[in-house]
Amino acid sequence: MSLLTTSASQPVDLIAEIDRLRTEMNATILAHYYQVDEVQDVADFIGDSLDLSRRAAETDAEVIVFCGVHFMAETAKILSPQKTVLLPDLNAGCSLADSAPADEFAEFVQQHPDHTVVNYVNSSAAVKALTDYCVTSSNALQVINSLPADKPIIFGPDRFLGDWVIQESGRDMLLWQGSCEVHEIFSEQAICDMQQQHPGCVTLVHPECPRQIRVHADVVGSTKILLAAVENGDPEGTYLVVTEPGIIHKMQQAAPKATFLMAPAEVSGSAEGSCISCNTCPHMRLNTLEKLYACMRDQTPAIELPEDIITRARLPIERMLAVG
Ligand code: 13P
Ligand code: SF4
Repeated sequence: MSLLTTSASQPVDLIAEIDRLRTEMNATILAHYYQVDEVQDVADFIGDSLDLSRRAAETDAEVIVFCGVHFMAETAKILSPQKTVLLPDLNAGCSLADSAPADEFAEFVQQHPDHTVVNYVNSSAAVKALTDYCVTSSNALQVINSLPADKPIIFGPDRFLGDWVIQESGRDMLLWQGSCEVHEIFSEQAICDMQQQHPGCVTLVHPECPRQIRVHADVVGSTKILLAAVENGDPEGTYLVVTEPGIIHKMQQAAPKATFLMAPAEVSGSAEGSCISCNTCPHMRLNTLEKLYACMRDQTPAIELPEDIITRARLPIERMLAVG
């Protein structure tokens, strides 16, 4: 049982209280696959960015409690502006979203007025307001393939996802030079060593990883696609997971007899040269069961956005939801 001791020293059964508040508030709890296990376990729905956005758009609940990072909760608010959207820790940001400040991105767009602007959903609401099409890693390729071949494209903010889309589509694009602090640091040497030590293992790689990591993959895809590879793969197989290890919780439930190996990050200066805990997302992990309970109890922190940003950011997100 998960207990929290209050200031009055009354232990609170967190899961029972979250359940009570969920019903009382008519709330739905949405969680990303990178959330800590106990948060995933109390969620009404767990998904990748695309499915979570869809769920946020469709839910009848009055309150959306978003256990993910800030841009995901913002997307939910843009799709359901009349609802209260709570985020257990408002500091749960994203290095990719931070790598594209809206004023700098606006200048970049102005320098290329003939370009269609495509942005990964891992971007701020203000950047989405400057965007023609949002994409997730589930449908980026389909969205790009659906655009007229003669139309030049700006793709932001992730240069590695952009590079993967260029590789897969054969389409040239102008890339914003952002990156994910988690996915850009996997150790190629360690991955090759692990593949040698575990012949026949299936290597699952998120497209936010650089090309020199992706070339070692058996499957490249969003968290949902990597999970599906386990669900549809050998139930007793060995899987080398090259993304945030939070996803292993669901993978293990899907294939309890399989073996999951976490790919380590490269750490220059360390004796081993690699680090197994450096590939957890520090932002995703800010949400805890305690903070989830507290945000539901206090109905704060809630996502607030200016009307004009909501209006302008909505169309590119709706276009994203229509594909894939
Ligand atoms: P997915 O859409 O694949 O879940 O990715 C979200 C994310 O932030 C990956 O770092
Ligand atoms: Fe952002 Fe990377 Fe964390 Fe995903 S894993 S939320 S892209 S910092």
